[in-house]
Amino acid sequence: MKALVLTAANHVELIDRPLPAPVPGRALVRMKAVALNRRDEWIREGKYPNIKLGVTMGSDGAGVVEAVYDEVDQPWVGQEVVINPNLDWGPDPEVQSSRYTILGMPVDGTFAEYIIVPVDRLQRKPRHLDFLQAAALPLGGLTAFRALFKRGGLKPDHNVLISGFGGGVAQFAFLFAQAVGANVYVTSGSDEKVEKALKLGAKGAYNYKRETSYSDLWKTKGGFHLVIDSAGGDQINNFIKVLRPNGRIVFYGATTGLPGKLDLYRMFWNQLSLLGSTMGNDHEFSEMLAFVSGSQIKPIIDSIRPFSKIAESFADITRPNKVGKIVFQV
Ligand SMILES: NC(=O)c1ccc[n+]([C@@H]2O[C@H](COP(=O)([O-])OP(=O)(O)OC[C@H]3O[C@@H](n4cnc5c(N)ncnc54)[C@H](OP(=O)(O)O)[C@@H]3O)[C@@H](O)[C@H]2O)c1
Repeated sequence: MKALVLTAANHVELIDRPLPAPVPGRALVRMKAVALNRRDEWIREGKYPNIKLGVTMGSDGAGVVEAVYDEVDQPWVGQEVVINPNLDWGPDPEVQSSRYTILGMPVDGTFAEYIIVPVDRLQRKPRHLDFLQAAALPLGGLTAFRALFKRGGLKPDHNVLISGFGGGVAQFAFLFAQAVGANVYVTSGSDEKVEKALKLGAKGAYNYKRETSYSDLWKTKGGFHLVIDSAGGDQINNFIKVLRPNGRIVFYGATTGLPGKLDLYRMFWNQLSLLGSTMGNDHEFSEMLAFVSGSQIKPIIDSIRPFSKIAESFADITRPNKVGKIVFQV
């Protein structure tokens, strides 16, 4: 079978690997679809902790359970599933344990025709989604769900600003916030994506590359209860300015690096909170799937490609005109 493996620094390739066999507590899953995340490209570039060569990459995927080892797990055989990419979150629902890791590095992940995963990583695929849509969901959906609802405390009538609308996680934050009836605004680095967000129902959309965007936000919206961001950098001070008193910024990444300064004066005076967030625990993963099913949410898919093109597609993760997830038919 084919698997996408990190074979050298900065190099991923599809190679032949022996078909794995189920062992106690694990299931063999025939993958039907997998999806790329920014994390995969960070790993390829060597900008991620605990990188090991020879590991099958990938955190997102959906498929059909082909076989299990234990008799008690037999009901899983033939089920259509999505894979929970969390491993060893640990006992504290608030914070991951020191053993926490994610499928796809340093342990083998989803980018293969067949994978072996612990049976407790299997979740039934939401019925309204096909395999391609379901494969887009795990890492991005879970990250957005925790950031918005658990860390961000989003309520239906809140004003929320999602930065970098084109991002794989940001699109879920956008869809989830809309589904609960929040007033959703976005930023993006391209006018094309700004237009797309407005067409999809954003109350306002702003190009973060234009100097006027944040002053417009402040004037027209009277302040946000919540900002969701993964870009970081000095822009965080603009978010501090457009928050209402008692508002929160939740950030789950820092793609553009650290801020050179932070407006602490305005933060303490306005009772503002700056909160970090990362994926989510197993219970939140189940909650996220139930929420997606209940609200009939369908991920925004940038493109669907054959699995044979996955290695060359890494270059497109950072493509400026990408909106949503790059997904592969296995
Ligand atoms: N903590 C976690 O558990 C976790 C989970 C998932 C992701 N992450 C991290 O979060 C980040 C995003 O992940 P992703 O998978 O969504 O990546 P992605 O699909 O590559 O999206 C990145 C997006 O960032 C936006 N962006 C770039 N520069 C920006 C700026 N100056 N201001 C606002 N937005 C900007 C762009 O939006 P536009 O195209 O609209 O301009 C781009 O589409 C990465 O750093 C990733 O490693 C962390």
